Amino acid sequence: MDLFEKLQANRGPLGSISHIDDNYYMFPMLEGEIAPRMQFKGKTVLTWSLNNYLGLANHPEVRKTDAEAATKYGLGYPMGARMMTGNTKYHHQLETELAEFVGKPAGLLLNYGYQGVLSIIDAVVGRKDVIVYDAECHACIIDGVRLHMGKRFVYPHNDINNLEVQLKRAEKITKETGGGILVITEGVFGMSGNTGDLKGIVALKKKYDFRLFVDDAHGFGTMGEKGGGTAQHYGVTDAVDLYFATFAKSMASIGGFLASDPKVLDVLKYNLRSQIFAKSLPLAIVLGNLKRLELIKKHPEFKENLWKVVNALQSGLKEMGLNIGTTKSPVTPVVLSGDPYEAANLMKDLRSNYNIFCSAVAYPVVPKGTIIVRIIPTAVHTLEDVKQTLKVFETIKEKLHDGVYLKEGEKGATLLET
Ligand SMILES: Cc1ncc(COP(=O)(O)O)c(C=O)c1O
Repeated sequence: MDLFEKLQANRGPLGSISHIDDNYYMFPMLEGEIAPRMQFKGKTVLTWSLNNYLGLANHPEVRKTDAEAATKYGLGYPMGARMMTGNTKYHHQLETELAEFVGKPAGLLLNYGYQGVLSIIDAVVGRKDVIVYDAECHACIIDGVRLHMGKRFVYPHNDINNLEVQLKRAEKITKETGGGILVITEGVFGMSGNTGDLKGIVALKKKYDFRLFVDDAHGFGTMGEKGGGTAQHYGVTDAVDLYFATFAKSMASIGGFLASDPKVLDVLKYNLRSQIFAKSLPLAIVLGNLKRLELIKKHPEFKENLWKVVNALQSGLKEMGLNIGTTKSPVTPVVLSGDPYEAANLMKDLRSNYNIFCSAVAYPVVPKGTIIVRIIPTAVHTLEDVKQTLKVFETIKEKLHDGVYLKEGEKGATLLET
């Protein structure tokens, strides 16, 4: 069969719903400055779907630094991979400052978070080693695990008893092969808002010999006393062997970093294929990230504001009887019952009639009959925004309950139907 014909015959889970690629549900275009109020289809919407947790994306000092750095250096400099010609003293400075911020001895910049995670896993484990990972880990971890030539075991999300079972299985193998074990989890899980049970995992280090890799994409900046992440929050920074965060969320930028033992990073920097064989971060981005980090350190009130909004929103939703799962972070899922058709109509109602923009997932991303509307609060939202949103959720909850989205919805708006 011709490969292109095969591609079109089997479009994949998301490609199969490309017929609704209407810039409404799929590939929507939010316009205007990144803020709680943006433009969508010519209307102003209250936006709750950007991981701009600390509100840095549009901070005047950030915008100024980004613009000046881009004017001075362009977006090309330095050209090439870091190892070859793509290095500057500012890349090193950012690594040092990030490591210090998260309480680790050394840092290593990554040009993109996704590729970085993939290569970290690829470089740390070989065919004799075993990976044990949480079932709800992000796609970049799953893809890193897919590269692994040795055994891998998955444990149900945050199930520490089962993790121990998997560690026993892993240990049996590594005793034979002479390999090691890598446990992988997230600091904050991006869909549910749950935190990884880092304390539970770390406690198992007393009984089993393994290294722990934590992807803290959503925890960096939002968790921990000073924003230093979920490991800081749980007081287990020293026991996290490999700490990763992206700049794509709290830092409202691009790239990522790994913090760890300098001796380990000194080996990894020669072995992360996505870094050795790809262009390094442009200097303008590095300088922009240095400014963002400076602001995070200087302004603890950003995180405080974020949590004020988070607490008001989450307690308000709970008070009205809505299920927000077991989130312990700013990520706020509202778990509703309904089919993909209702989900589409509910989203349409939210966006078109109530001017509230958040994202939703339905089957097959979550179990049949479940709709999850995910709300991402930020430091630049206000308690007034929360009040407005709670009122709307009260209404849509009743409409969903009364079957309005089933009866009156627009046929054909079949969000995520397979
Ligand atoms: C948990 C997690 N890890 C890694 C990434 C990838 O980071 P990046 O966007 O920098 O490639 C993301 C998404 O941004 C994420 O949510």
